[in-house]
Formats: sequence, C-alpha cells, structure tokens
Amino acid sequence: MSPLPFSKISSPLNALLAATGLVAVAALTMPDVAERTRLILAVLLGGIWAVYVLQLIETLVMQRTRDVRDRMPAIVIDMLAVFVPLAAFLLVGSRDQSLCCAIWLLKPLRDSTFFRLMARVLTNEAHNLIGVTSIFGIVMFSAALAAYIIERDVQPDKFGSIPQAMWWAVVTLSTTGYGDEIPQSFAGRVLAGLVMMSGIGIFALWAGILATGFYEEVRRQDFVRNWQLVAAVPLFQKVGSAALIEIVRALRPRVVPAGAVICRKGDTGDQMFFIVEGRVIVATPNPVELGSGSFFGEMALISGEPRSATVSAATEVSLLSLYSVDFQMLSTSCPEIADIIRKTALERRGATPKA
Ligand code: CMP
Repeated sequence: MSPLPFSKISSPLNALLAATGLVAVAALTMPDVAERTRLILAVLLGGIWAVYVLQLIETLVMQRTRDVRDRMPAIVIDMLAVFVPLAAFLLVGSRDQSLCCAIWLLKPLRDSTFFRLMARVLTNEAHNLIGVTSIFGIVMFSAALAAYIIERDVQPDKFGSIPQAMWWAVVTLSTTGYGDEIPQSFAGRVLAGLVMMSGIGIFALWAGILATGFYEEVRRQDFVRNWQLVAAVPLFQKVGSAALIEIVRALRPRVVPAGAVICRKGDTGDQMFFIVEGRVIVATPNPVELGSGSFFGEMALISGEPRSATVSAATEVSLLSLYSVDFQMLSTSCPEIADIIRKTALERRGATPKA
C-alpha cells in the first residue's frame, strides 16, 4: 500500500511547516496584532495541525510494516504534535491555546539524523561529560563559599548566604557577567578573576569532548559504510582482515549520476575506481561496458600516462576511488590485488588501439 501522497511530508517541508507554525505562535503573543490577522494565524495553525494529523495516520497505518522500534521516535513526536494542541483547544483558556502549538518544535527532530548522532555522542562521552560537569559543580560551590566568606560583611544583601553567592558563581564561571553582583573587596575581585579563568577552561573541556566525540562517531559511521561497500567488491573478498581495514580507510565512496563523465580521455589520472553498483561505458573505439565488481582508471594511475579513454556513467553508479599514494600502500599490503590490477591494465592496453 503506497503512503497517502498528501501526508508523505519530506523532512524539509516538515521543518518548514513547524517553523511557519512557530512564527504564527510567536506573532499571536504580540498584543497589537489586529483581530483579522489573529483569525488568519489561527486558521494557519489549524491547517498545519490538519497536515500533522495526516502525517500521524501515515506513521501509524501506512508504515506499520516497518519495525516499531525504528518508528517509535516518529510515533511519539507525531502524537504529541497532534494531541497536545488538541488538548489545549479543548481544555485550556483561549489566551494560551496557541502556545501549546510550540510542541511542534519537536517536529524537526523526527526526521533528523543529526539528533540521533548527537544522542550517540552524548552516550559515548557520558563518562567524560559527567566528569567535567562534576568539576563544574565543585568549582561553582567552592567559588560561592569563598565569595560568601569574603563578601558577606561588605554586601550582605547580595552575598549574605551561599545560595545567594551561588548565582554570582554561575554567572562568573560562565563568563556571562550580568553585573548585578560585583565583588567590592580586593580579595573578592581576585577570586572573580580565578573563577572566570576556571570557567573558560571548563567550557573548553566540554567543547573539546563533544568535538572529539562527533569526529569519532562520524569516522566510525564512515568506516562501517565503507566496509559494507568494500565487501561488495569481489576483488577484496579474499583479503585478510588487517589489510581490509587499510583498504577501507583508503577507499573513498562516491555516487555519480547517470550520464556524467567520470574521467576524460587525455586528462591526467591520479585515482582509479572500483564499481560497487551500476554500470559505466568506456568510450574506446569499440565501447566497453563495465559493471559491479569491475574497476577502471588503473592504466593512467600505473603508467602515469594520460587517460586512454573517456569513462561515463551508464546508470547511477556507486564507486570507490583509490588515489595513487594509496595504491602504493595496496601494493605492499595486498600484492596479489595490485598484480591483478597491473595485469588487467596490460591486457586492456593491448586491447585498446591507439587513436
Ligand atoms: P585510464 O586510461 O586511466 O582511464 C580510462 C580507463 O578506461 C582506463 O584507465 C581503463 O581502466 C579503461 N579502459 C581502457 N581501455 C579499456 C578496454 N579495452 N576495456 C576495458 N576498459 C578499458
């Protein structure tokens, strides 16, 4: 059964609808908006809600063949997007009804792979993040305690208790500095300087942990995807796992649309290509078609001569490219594969008449 065409909302359109709804919610909080405009905005919110009802039906009914665990985030978000505004319409006073449409803030999360990536990074780095957060807590409490001892007699209204001094500690540690609470004594100012510097260090640690976590996770995902692609090329199937890891790191995936030229006769060639899926046409005098598992572009890579023929995509083609420096690595770690590639290059050179 195909999904309802009007309920199959692509993720950019979904985000656009949510953004439009949220702008309408924000506009409705402005006191000087005319009654007519209010009515138009309310109808707009109703329209978006109706589209979300269709989307919920699609998620629940049309996609029921998909694993429920995969669909769960979408089901929860789609239900909240429909039932929270509905409950608000039925139960809440008219002034705040539209505010409940702010639940649509969750809608862009539904299709985003970024948030799934972020969840994985947070899970992987939880240990380190908790460590730095603990340091933040320790420094904050120590700063509040010290500020209380130093400033309580000078400014009892602002530093008269540790909870009061805690606000100053948070504002100073985050280097926000609202300026509503300022140490007056010399010792208090020295303390403020130290707290600010500690804050910069702690935030740098947080940023560093998250940046490294993202980098590692993206690399891991790329590795898994490349591994699956490399495993689909018969030439690599007999390679030992250590060499395969090197090959996976060296090969770069690329998808070329049908009709596009991949390499042109006469150009210099510093890379060769393995076909994972799809077909290419080699424009030799008797054109040759190469399919999944074949490779091309090896002649220029090995000989250093210009490309012998133009190669273009006959269908959309998924490729893995290997640069000449990595070919040297392949020659060392998998000499048998390098030999097959060299032998094929020689055979093709013999079969390709000089233009
Ligand atoms: P290269 O010369 O680097 O770029 C064009 C590629 O087309 C070439 O490497 C070979 O991989 C491929 N090619 C050239 N001639 C033939 C042929 N006769 N049969 C199959 N492939 C060829």
